[in-house]
Amino acid sequence: MQRLLSELAVGEKDYKLARAIDPARLPAHIAIIMDGNGRWAKNRHLPRVSGHRAGVTSVRTTVTTCAQLDLEALTLYAFSVENWKRPKSEVETLWRLLRVYLRAELPTMMKHGIRFAAIGRLDALPPIVRAELDDVIQKTQKNHGLRLNLAINYGGRAEIVDAVKALTEEARLGSVEIDEAAISARLYTAGLPDPDLLIRTSGEMRVSNFLLWQIAYAELYVTHTLWPDFTRTELLEAILDYQRRDRRFGGLEPASVRAR
Ligand code: FPP
Repeated sequence: MQRLLSELAVGEKDYKLARAIDPARLPAHIAIIMDGNGRWAKNRHLPRVSGHRAGVTSVRTTVTTCAQLDLEALTLYAFSVENWKRPKSEVETLWRLLRVYLRAELPTMMKHGIRFAAIGRLDALPPIVRAELDDVIQKTQKNHGLRLNLAINYGGRAEIVDAVKALTEEARLGSVEIDEAAISARLYTAGLPDPDLLIRTSGEMRVSNFLLWQIAYAELYVTHTLWPDFTRTELLEAILDYQRRDRRFGGLEPASVRAR
């Protein structure tokens, strides 16, 4: 939190919002469905890929802000298992943007101590994309700050299938207790806290096969803002909104948001 405040000018709107956030009750993990790039471009009579290009700026701002807030994890939905249905040219542009992003952002990741990971069925990605992902994963693996997960060729059901397959294989080889912890430990997000806050831009009221297991008790924040227009201000507003929720986790007593 202090790192964010030191970046901001006293009196500016984001400074006031950041000061209003209780640093002891920050979400440990934020997950975001970045939606609306195509509509953003259409509204400007631009090709869809311009929306994705503009969306990269929102990715940069969001990642940096979460690192400056000292969050434990941020998971961004960049490409779903269903997104292969899009025109080949759009899919190829997304890979190109991802590669440019990874190369350009490595110094920022190192500066902020970000540990990068990619989650999803990565074997199906073009080898050059896979190689660049592996490179950034390897170069940031010793960092201890924000864990940034990019969900690529990701599907929540596919992830659960993969976890169940791993568990079944282990059960075949020896005894393994099958309970919720055993499944969580075999998901792509093993070892991370479940998201406390799930943000979706562009107003759609769906979870679109994202982190289905992990969002069981996440607080949802849906905004009509299109992803390329999503700013640091709105991220801070989403966190403040989250801090006003009563989280009961199925019980009767409001647990409020958890203290870290
Ligand atoms: C959804 O908007 C967005 C995506 C499918 C891709 C997200 C990609 C980016 C934000 C840019 C590249 C990312 C990185 C990490 C470099 P949509 O195209 O479904 O929008 P629409 O619903 O308005 O058509």
